[in-house]
Formats: sequence, C-alpha cells, structure tokens
Amino acid sequence: MRRERWNDLILILFLVIGLGVFAFTGIALLESFWYTPVASAEKKEHVASPLTKLDLLERGKLVFQSAGCTSCHLARLEPGGPVVGFPVGPSLSNAGMRRDEKWLREHYIDPHKLVPGSKMNSFAYLPSDELDALVAYVKTFTPRYEPAEEPTIVIPQRFTAEQVERGKALFTSQGCLGCHTIGKSGGPIGPNLTKAGTHGRTDEWQIQHLKDPLSVYVLGPTDGIPWPMPRYNNLSDEDLQALVAYVQSLR
Ligand code: HEC
Ligand code: HEC
Repeated sequence: MRRERWNDLILILFLVIGLGVFAFTGIALLESFWYTPVASAEKKEHVASPLTKLDLLERGKLVFQSAGCTSCHLARLEPGGPVVGFPVGPSLSNAGMRRDEKWLREHYIDPHKLVPGSKMNSFAYLPSDELDALVAYVKTFTPRYEPAEEPTIVIPQRFTAEQVERGKALFTSQGCLGCHTIGKSGGPIGPNLTKAGTHGRTDEWQIQHLKDPLSVYVLGPTDGIPWPMPRYNNLSDEDLQALVAYVQSLR
C-alpha cells in the first residue's frame, strides 16, 4: 500500500518535470521563430563596418585611402583626377582591366599566395564588406579614369630632343602602344603613360623595368599576371635610353 503511493508520487513528479521541460523548450522554440530576425539584424548592425550605409564605390574609395594603398601605388582616385601616391608597386592605372574580382579579393587577403615574393602586405584584417567595396572600386580603374588630352613634352636637361624622337618612334615600333595609352591612342592593358614623366620613377628604375619588368616588383616567379609586360633586354643601350627619355618627358 505505502510502496504504491510512493510509486504514484514519483510518477507525478516525473510528469511535472517532463511537462516543465516540454513547455520550456516549446516557448524557447516559439521565441526563436518570433524574435530571431530582429535579434540578428541588431547583431549585424554592430558587427558590420560603419561605412555600410555609403554607396559601394564611395566606400571602396574610403577604404582604399584609409588602408594606405597609395603608400605603395600610383592611382587616380576619381575619373580624370590627378595621379596620387608613391611608385613602390605597379601603378594601378587600368588595373581593373588586368585583374578579375576573384583575383583581386584573394590578392588582398594573401598576396604571397598569388604572387610568391610579393612585397605587398595582407589586408585580411579588413571586414568582408570592406574587401568587397575595395574590389568593386579597383575594378573601376579603367580608361574612363584616364585623361584623354595629349601629353605635353617637357624634355629633362639630361636628355636630348633626338633621344626623345627616337624613343617616340621605338614606342610604336616595339609594340608599347599595343598595351599603353598615351593621349588618345594605345591599348588599355598597361598603365596609361600620358603623364609618365610625373610618376616619380627614376631613369635606373625605367631601364631595369624595361629589361626585366617583374624583377622590380617580385623576387620570385609569378604566374598571376595575365598580360605581363615583355622583357626588352634585346634592345641596345641607346634604344633603352631613348625609350626612357621619351617616357620621362611625358607630362
Ligand atoms: C607595402 C606596399 C604595398 C601596399 C601597402 C599595397 N600594395 Fe598592392 N602591390 C604592391 C606590390 C609590390 C605589388 C606587385 C606584386 C603583387 O602583385 O603582389 C602590388 C600589386 C597590386 C595589384 C596588382 C597590380 C597589377 O598590375 O596587376 C593590385 C590591384 C594592388 N596591388 C592593389 C592594392 C590595394 C587595393 C592596396 C590597399 C588595400 C594595396 N595594393 C596596398 C605593394 C603594395
Ligand atoms: C603586353 C603588354 C605590354 C607591353 C607590350 C608593354 N607594356 Fe609596359 N606595362 C605593362 C603592364 C601590365 C604594366 C604594369 C605592371 C608593371 O609596372 O610592370 C606596365 C608598366 C609600364 C611602365 C611603368 C609605368 C609606371 O610609372 O608605373 C612603363 C614606363 C612601361 N610599362 C613602359 C613600356 C614601354 C616603353 C614599352 C615598350 C618598349 C612597354 N611598356 C610595353 C604592359 C605592357
């Protein structure tokens, strides 16, 4: 008789606990349906960059400036604007023609994976949406950013007018125009050279770059560049000097 009562009590206790657990999980489950969208929207607001509300390209431009890209790169920040920055890495003029979105994003995150020996640092610390904005912004670096006016020729004293004339002829005969635009003619693969004399590159750099373009930016081999500039190490010293004279006179 006593034992049966105990059994009943234990049964009731289990029922009560079971009901409690059921009700609790039920409410939690319902709550999760009701409140989750609001809660996660609030959470997102906190995690995302404060720049989220700006237009994608405006945001990309701000990230480009604040991340210090111009401490190593020459670029025009807006169509037709002046070239700003320092000539450590390649000019980003027309970089939007040379690189696709996937490459750009991976390169910001891990430059060394795509370009072994690259001196570019990783930007993996940037929030994902800022990386997206940066990719979109650099993709706009195309001929529409470049000036359409013809260059002014200002010959530095160390060069002669004959050298510049010879350089100009070589620029066409050697196929430089196929990739580079000067004024209104040329191709969009390499940087626009209309004002190349203002880029701050030294004559020695220009010679080294003409002989072996990849040697000035990367130490190791690279397989990431779809249209690398060819080596012009077959040209005579006079021809190389003439090309440099022409390029450095473009203002
Ligand atoms: C410390 C110097 C340095 C900084 C800072 C730097 N870069 Fe670079 N960047 C380089 C060098 C060197 C290369 C060439 C080797 C390579 O491709 O990794 C390069 C290559 C590139 C290229 C490929 C250019 C081409 O001709 O195809 C792009 C695009 C680029 N950088 C964008 C950026 C952006 C955007 C930033 C800022 C978020 C940035 N870089 C910051 C040094 C730098
Ligand atoms: C197949 C395309 C191609 C050809 C042909 C070519 N280039 Fe380039 N050039 C590039 C690319 C891409 C870059 C950007 C990467 C770099 O700086 O090496 C570049 C960069 C340059 C730069 C650096 C501009 C700067 O200030 O950042 C100069 C100067 C230049 N080229 C001159 C020449 C000359 C002179 C010739 C002909 C003798 C020539 N290029 C032929 C593709 C080419």
